[in-house]
Amino acid sequence: MAAKIIDGKALSVVIQSELATDAALMLKETGSRPGLAAVLVGDNPASQVYVRNKQKACEKAGFASWLHKLDANTSQGDLLKLIASLNNDPKVHGILVQLPLPKHLDTELILDAVTPLKDVDGFGPENLGLLTSGRPRLLPCTPHGVLIMLQRNNIPISGKHVVVLGRSTIVGKPMGLILLQNGIDATVTICHSKTANLKEITRQADILVAAIGRPHFVTPDMVKPGAVVIDVGINRLDDGKLVGDVDYDGILPNAGFITPVPGGVGPMTITMLLHNTLLAAKLQSKSK
Ligand code: GUN
Repeated sequence: MAAKIIDGKALSVVIQSELATDAALMLKETGSRPGLAAVLVGDNPASQVYVRNKQKACEKAGFASWLHKLDANTSQGDLLKLIASLNNDPKVHGILVQLPLPKHLDTELILDAVTPLKDVDGFGPENLGLLTSGRPRLLPCTPHGVLIMLQRNNIPISGKHVVVLGRSTIVGKPMGLILLQNGIDATVTICHSKTANLKEITRQADILVAAIGRPHFVTPDMVKPGAVVIDVGINRLDDGKLVGDVDYDGILPNAGFITPVPGGVGPMTITMLLHNTLLAAKLQSKSK
């Protein structure tokens, strides 16, 4: 039987409307909206699209949102000054610095400058450290979105073998850490470009998460029949077509569940960014 398709777009509509309800409640109770400031340096076309989509989602859910567009040759000092002013602005609950940054800027230094309670990307050392030590707070949006997709589709995770392809700080590593948390209880294997006998490992996966950034890398022979296949990849081919890391058409007939690209994990990343902005607003009001 063909795989069930996990529709991330439809799930995002549901969760974003729940977040809109929460934001309206916050406005009623406190007089302020959850607010997200996005910082975009340079004119990378993909980044411009991502940031625009994030802003649209904020506006639709009744969040405040600001876009700080900076020139490609902005200095590190000027960018740090902007981040310091956003850190100190009580209307701003979340700060998102869109990546990649131009090469002359030190990405780690910039991300570390975002105050931890406004780090809605969850990439900073404090939030990643809390996740690692079993006290998750602001989670990286893409792996959190994958978790929510599994849970809201009633896909069992506890005791299952999840194989994650990719060890990035944005997806692979935190994906593994999230799935290992007490109460989620997956058995996790993280594979990467140097992993030997890759196919033997991926074929053991009950749930396979592909986040390697290579079009159609995961082929049907790498997937156990009935497995859940989550495709985090977004790759643009020479003909302009967007495809994931998974050979979707080849795998669809034999998988248990599969996520499409586009319309799978992508919309969930934005949804979890709104979730984090609201959570950050609540954390900040508690810490006052
Ligand atoms: N660039 C690609 N993905 C992301 C993301 O999740 N957050 C940020 N800030 N930049 C990105």
